[in-house]
Amino acid sequence: MFIIMNSPFIFDTKTVNYIIGDGALQQAEKLFAQYSSVFILMDENVEKYCLDVLMNALPDIKVRGYIKIPAGESSKSIEHAIHIWESLTNLGASRDSLLINLGGGVVSDIGGFCASTFKRGLKFINIPTTLLAQVDASIGGKTGIDFLSYKNQVGLFVDPKAVIIDPVFLKTLEYKYWQSGFAEVTKHALIMDKELWKMLGNRRFTEIEEWNSIIQRSAKDKIDIVRYDKTEAGIRKILNFGHTVGHAIETFYLKSGNPITHGQAVAAGIICETWISSKMVELECENVEEVINRIDLNFDRLQFTENDISELMKEMRQDKKIVDGDIKFSLLRKLGKAVHDIGNVDSELIRDSLLFYINNKKCN
Ligand SMILES: NC(=O)c1ccc[n+]([C@@H]2O[C@H](COP(=O)([O-])OP(=O)(O)OC[C@H]3O[C@@H](n4cnc5c(N)ncnc54)[C@H](O)[C@@H]3O)[C@@H](O)[C@H]2O)c1
Repeated sequence: MFIIMNSPFIFDTKTVNYIIGDGALQQAEKLFAQYSSVFILMDENVEKYCLDVLMNALPDIKVRGYIKIPAGESSKSIEHAIHIWESLTNLGASRDSLLINLGGGVVSDIGGFCASTFKRGLKFINIPTTLLAQVDASIGGKTGIDFLSYKNQVGLFVDPKAVIIDPVFLKTLEYKYWQSGFAEVTKHALIMDKELWKMLGNRRFTEIEEWNSIIQRSAKDKIDIVRYDKTEAGIRKILNFGHTVGHAIETFYLKSGNPITHGQAVAAGIICETWISSKMVELECENVEEVINRIDLNFDRLQFTENDISELMKEMRQDKKIVDGDIKFSLLRKLGKAVHDIGNVDSELIRDSLLFYINNKKCN
């Protein structure tokens, strides 16, 4: 049972040291003392908004070099991985150096990948600066880059030495990235944490003030799952709820040249997969309506049409969770409880879930 503690709360899983909550940076000083040299990877916005916050909190870190990449998903590429490996080489990084990934999910994904492949493994610490990275991307050891227009096509499972999650960074985050992270917070509540669902309440995310305890709780939910199933052999799959339809929608918009945030796509995916849950695993319609109301309070409906559905279905057939041609869904049995590996979901039912979304229908 997780009890919200005084901030920050420290949790050592033996492989990863987590420090989570207001004041986390100040508590992290001793983590850096053992490294002879430290390198910081960040993107241009993070340099502008977050670097001073970090250095003011931890002035004694021995930073030997900074490595910068442009902001945005297009930096999660092999070209930027080469830039990072080159920089580490030119700056003289050795296996007892440390790489700090300071930034959102793009920085922790590519930074973790480059560190763990450089000289067969450089240690790294994630300091996430977006809501999405604080409750999701920085936790769980999935690292990687996009390749040949497929997301996360090349990568490794490798844990950071530590993850330091301090909400202080979020003060400068743009609305759309708050919203994007909120989709993952909502997902954690739905799949495993009824208490978090109650804490979030029926309100807009912009009305929330108690972010410290919500981030602590949501991050701890993910930690609990990945501790038991690092490589997604079983229970970790519940984290994919909303993401089967969601990923197809995200790729569809990306290819159309009109990208949306990951969270916008996941929010739409949550609506579709909640409805599929009512047909496949008996989620009650009353619960479906409750989920939809909350999503609609926080996300505008996306404007794809019936004509786009065949393209979306095509994207879904590229899903990593397909086994022998059958897409395995993670679905909701009730609020706060998900099940995984639900197969034999008819394509017509998936198609109908998209129509349900477009036409703003009621569950029955
Ligand atoms: N590894 C995983 O388990 C996992 C899980 C979920 C998502 N992801 C990946 O995470 C990425 C998305 O992460 P994201 O939403 O954090 O995107 P991001 O890293 O691109 O950050 C979003 C934007 O916010 C800016 N930014 C970051 N911190 C800021 C701050 N404190 N103030 C102002 N601006 C700031 C960035 O420069 C960027 O423009 C995707 O590549 C996705 O695939 C990985």
